[in-house]
Amino acid sequence: METENTAKFRGGVAVITGAGAGIGSGLARQCASIGMTVVVTDVSSDRAEEVADQIRKSGGEADAMTVDVSHFKALDALAEAVYAKYGNRVRLLINNAGIETLGFSWEIPAERWESTLNINIHGIVHGARAFIPRMLASGQECWIANLASVGAFGVMPTQTAYIMSKHAVQSFSECLYLEMKVKQAPIHVSSVVPGMLKTSIFDAGAGAGEPQGAETYRSRMYHMMKDYGMDLDAGCKRIIEGICANKFWVDTQPEMTTGALQGRAKFLTEQRDPEIADEARHLLGLS
Ligand SMILES: NC(=O)c1ccc[n+]([C@@H]2O[C@H](COP(=O)([O-])OP(=O)(O)OC[C@H]3O[C@@H](n4cnc5c(N)ncnc54)[C@H](O)[C@@H]3O)[C@@H](O)[C@H]2O)c1
Repeated sequence: METENTAKFRGGVAVITGAGAGIGSGLARQCASIGMTVVVTDVSSDRAEEVADQIRKSGGEADAMTVDVSHFKALDALAEAVYAKYGNRVRLLINNAGIETLGFSWEIPAERWESTLNINIHGIVHGARAFIPRMLASGQECWIANLASVGAFGVMPTQTAYIMSKHAVQSFSECLYLEMKVKQAPIHVSSVVPGMLKTSIFDAGAGAGEPQGAETYRSRMYHMMKDYGMDLDAGCKRIIEGICANKFWVDTQPEMTTGALQGRAKFLTEQRDPEIADEARHLLGLS
């Protein structure tokens, strides 16, 4: 899908976390399709290998690496390994790995809270921290994209851990963008705000460690995604086009982004009490 915007990425290297499934895997395929070598990383070695293998079989270039983003040293090791192998060809880092956690805040076991915040927040912070000095030293124009969500602009009871992590990612990306301006650094920062793409994030197996009762909420989200989610590769194509066009705001379903932002702006401006959105009532079993 090479275009005027994507031409400059040809021959470059893209590093993607959590790329063994879902959005990360879709982004890996899109990056390969614009002529990038993709470093497919995931906590699951098998999944990372499988995605890299698919890319190679389709004529693209890809490496697989096992990286658990919840350990900051793993991200340091990733940056070191990738720069040792590819040097200044590294142009794009997508901090994508993230998990959903459902259940009431006080019922979620401490371990699940820790892993959610470590993966969703610290994984992104330390990905950026590990790569940016090397990107700066390379003197190359580079891109960093962090996966937020429309959830970064709203609230949802029983998804508190996830929602607060995405609010954090959004503010991190905004500050990082400005830090690049302060430094006049040739690094573009994007906040990726998917609406809903069909992935495995709500699969029952991804809920290990959630409290009892959370499976009901997970199952409702799973079915909503199955029925209304956007096609994964179509959504990922839009994301890569947005990143390549140097956009800060990169989304998949603009109407969802606008709706969430307008709702948030109204809530903040009017200093209202938090309210459960009408569309969330069914998911919570309230209607
Ligand atoms: N699917 C959506 O509609 C949607 C919407 C908004 C935001 N997002 C965000 O997009 C990102 C990807 O979500 P998805 O829906 O593709 O999820 P997914 O569950 O389908 O895939 C996530 C991948 O991340 C990997 N992963 C999990 N823990 C990891 C860890 N500790 N280290 C490295 N990799 C790990 C998993 O093995 C899996 O391959 C997440 O940040 C998510 O919050 C998704």
